[in-house]
Amino acid sequence: VGVTGGVGAPSALDVVLGGLRRLEYRGYDSAGVALVADDALHVTKRSGKLARLVDAVTAAETLEAVPAYSSRTGIGHTRWATHGAPTDENAHPHLSEDGQVALIHNGIIENFAPLRAELTEAGVTLLSETDSEVVAHLLARRLADGGTDLAGAMRDVVQRLEGAFTLLAVWRGQPDVVVGARRSSPLVVGVGDTATYLGSDVAAFIDHTKEAVELGEDQVVEVRPDGFTITDFAGAPVQGKPYTVTWDAAAAEKGGYDTFMAKEIDEQPKAVADTLLARSDEQGRLVLDEMRIDEAALADVDKVVIVSCGTSSYAGMVAKYAIERWARIPVEIEYSHEFRYRDPVIGARTLVVSISQSGETMDTLMAVRHARELGATTVAVCNTHGSTIPRESDGVLYTHAGPEVAVASTKAFVAQITAIYLLGLYLAQLRGTLAAADIKGVLAELHAVPDKVQKVLDGSGHVRQIARWMADTRSVLFLGRHVGFPVALEGALKLKELAYIHAEGFAAGELKHGPIALIEPGQPVFVVVPSPEGDDSVHAKVISNIQEIRARGARTIVIAEEGDDAVVPYAEEIIRVPQTPPLLAPLVTVVPLQVFACELAGAKGLDVDQPRNLAKSVTVE
Ligand code: G6P
Repeated sequence: VGVTGGVGAPSALDVVLGGLRRLEYRGYDSAGVALVADDALHVTKRSGKLARLVDAVTAAETLEAVPAYSSRTGIGHTRWATHGAPTDENAHPHLSEDGQVALIHNGIIENFAPLRAELTEAGVTLLSETDSEVVAHLLARRLADGGTDLAGAMRDVVQRLEGAFTLLAVWRGQPDVVVGARRSSPLVVGVGDTATYLGSDVAAFIDHTKEAVELGEDQVVEVRPDGFTITDFAGAPVQGKPYTVTWDAAAAEKGGYDTFMAKEIDEQPKAVADTLLARSDEQGRLVLDEMRIDEAALADVDKVVIVSCGTSSYAGMVAKYAIERWARIPVEIEYSHEFRYRDPVIGARTLVVSISQSGETMDTLMAVRHARELGATTVAVCNTHGSTIPRESDGVLYTHAGPEVAVASTKAFVAQITAIYLLGLYLAQLRGTLAAADIKGVLAELHAVPDKVQKVLDGSGHVRQIARWMADTRSVLFLGRHVGFPVALEGALKLKELAYIHAEGFAAGELKHGPIALIEPGQPVFVVVPSPEGDDSVHAKVISNIQEIRARGARTIVIAEEGDDAVVPYAEEIIRVPQTPPLLAPLVTVVPLQVFACELAGAKGLDVDQPRNLAKSVTVE
């Protein structure tokens, strides 16, 4: 879900539609705008993709001689349904019954049922099934009750709400004002010379200004053409946190690629390289300043728990192998949504590391909050500055993958592995479990990864061809062992997300305990082969696994290092990757699997960047 708004620009409609276009990746089952023009509120909303809304607004405007184009105040919303199906009625903005207030909401109002009941009893007719609509009516009633100020009404109303929300509202009574409020959901102000903007993130207004101000938890902001005022929910003025956005609009554009995903796959060498930037001092010792956590406390950690969802959780699984090896600390990895509900054994010496590209995934945010309540130290590995999870964590390690727009995560994944590897090395340095020279050695190998990823990308013609051959495939299996196991899981997830093909990843050693029953003649199986440089026996065992499935008729597509000839007799197709130290191998072996899924989905004519039913950041539990 994304919200955007602005006051003061020559055409609020252009500002709002432009913002929605850049935010559409946050959720996209419906969209809507509200504009204040000619002393009236104009609301247009449509289920489906943004293009439907754009058609509706532009068509209506042509007919009505364009009053909305002269509007200087507006808000807009892209929705990902939680309460109520994605219909026109349930799309935002919601209008109050008297037509005085229009409101958009991102998040969930947990106590909406009693509020709805209260409103219905008072004679208000609610038009949608959403939890959000109640807020529009509550605001309007507060203002009708002698209110003269939308921000004041917002402060009163938010005190009655439970849950997570970013709210934006406009009111006929103050046509030059947009008011926003936030709790556990993001909101950023954009400061222009004669206009002021609001957005779920800076992408919403990047075309207009790079000067941003971040809102804190439980704050309300009033934006006017000449500036803005932030207060807490009680009305006390507070200072926002100003910063200048360093990436430009072009960075969020497709730049010549057919899809954001294809572009983001190609940006992976840079994502890894940027994440490694400026992490060590002249002596080669790791310095992670932004961590903000006392070194003594970190050295004293006796357990690491990694919480995350989706692709980020596979980065966590990879990290377990490395952190345990280097820092000799037990590492548990768990889905955020499971962690919170199972009474985990956590204490003051536990380090809970969350991994989240967006920093807004509600499941992960809740896991972090729970960990803090239990007294753990929390570190966020995150790609989005100023997002909620790092703000609420003790420390943060930012990945520098740049904005990731495609719903299916790619460059964020390799950046996450890179960042958490830095954390693992840092822990090893603090605890003295690795010699300085060894840490330097691993860092040097990490710095060599971007070139290797580039090599895989340059040679990706073969995997693209395989993808096109396989466009009609109905089921694909992925096998891996050691760090190759999470890579297999990620390969399968990519294919499910993008190509809607049934795909499963297995630990290669587990095959004989059940999944091998799935193998029948013609079944395609990808095998991520570990480096022969690592533990010899693991390599040999995976080769045996390939033989076992081959003997049962599987079509084996093998990802193996250059020079690994042992695979040749058993592979129908071989995808080569450069030699890489075993623990770092996921950074290169995942790349062909991403390319494969992206290409296959493209060949099937599917929407690669916005697969059905998915959202880029899931801000509900
Ligand atoms: C959603 C996205 C996935 C992503 C997951 C975790 O489900 O569709 O691509 O991996 O959220 O997101 P996060 O932002 O927390 O890494």
